[in-house]
Amino acid sequence: MRKYKLQKRRELENFENIIQLTDQPEQDDFRYFGTWAKDYFKNNNPITLELACGKGAYTLALAEKYPDRSFIGIDMKGSRLWSACVAAQERGLNNVAFLRIEILNLAHYFTKGEIDEIWITFPDPFLKNGKFRKRLTAARYLAVYKHVIKEGASIHLKTDSDPFFDFSLKSLIENRCVIEEKIDDVYEDEKLHEDLYIKTNYERRHLADNRVIKYVRFSLAR
Ligand SMILES: C[S@@+](CC[C@H](N)C(=O)[O-])C[C@H]1O[C@@H](n2cnc3c(N)ncnc32)[C@H](O)[C@@H]1O
Repeated sequence: MRKYKLQKRRELENFENIIQLTDQPEQDDFRYFGTWAKDYFKNNNPITLELACGKGAYTLALAEKYPDRSFIGIDMKGSRLWSACVAAQERGLNNVAFLRIEILNLAHYFTKGEIDEIWITFPDPFLKNGKFRKRLTAARYLAVYKHVIKEGASIHLKTDSDPFFDFSLKSLIENRCVIEEKIDDVYEDEKLHEDLYIKTNYERRHLADNRVIKYVRFSLAR
């Protein structure tokens, strides 16, 4: 298994649709800093990030659905991103990129207000005491999102974890975020936006275990 993962990581080095910077967090002179649209995607389209993308289900599905937008899936696990990169190549998606970094370092790779939308899909709930600051809705992460996203733009969060969802709502309120929509049971909602029907790998597993999927859309106060 370990050998298989190492092989995937080696193959990733030659993929054209991923940038891997996990070993160099301090990228002050990152080549696409502030110029992702013009220099990477070679257009002026809005950019969506999928954070904790794993195998990139949201990135891939949204990119197919919205060809006039650009999508960047972000995760630190190479073997999962390998699957995402291969799927994007197979589907011929040229409005997709993947970035292998620690999410906390986002501001090294995107300039202020460069991002138009963020999806956070089934992030690790980090249930053990002492690990809460690793949660992707902890204050220090929200501060990073606030830096890179445009003023008033939406952040979407989907999760199956009640403790994580409760923590997130509390953190959003404490950090003066604007909660625009909250759904306690996504698949019971009759007026669901069609983007919410996209299912990630983890989501499929949670649904098979009869877990309830929760969603919140919010923006960050200035
Ligand atoms: C539970 S998995 C969900 C993957 C995918 N979104 C899905 O639903 O199938 C959480 C992912 O978040 C990534 N992750 C967690 N914290 C991260 C961080 N601080 N920076 C980058 N990736 C992170 C992990 O590597 C893992 O792939």
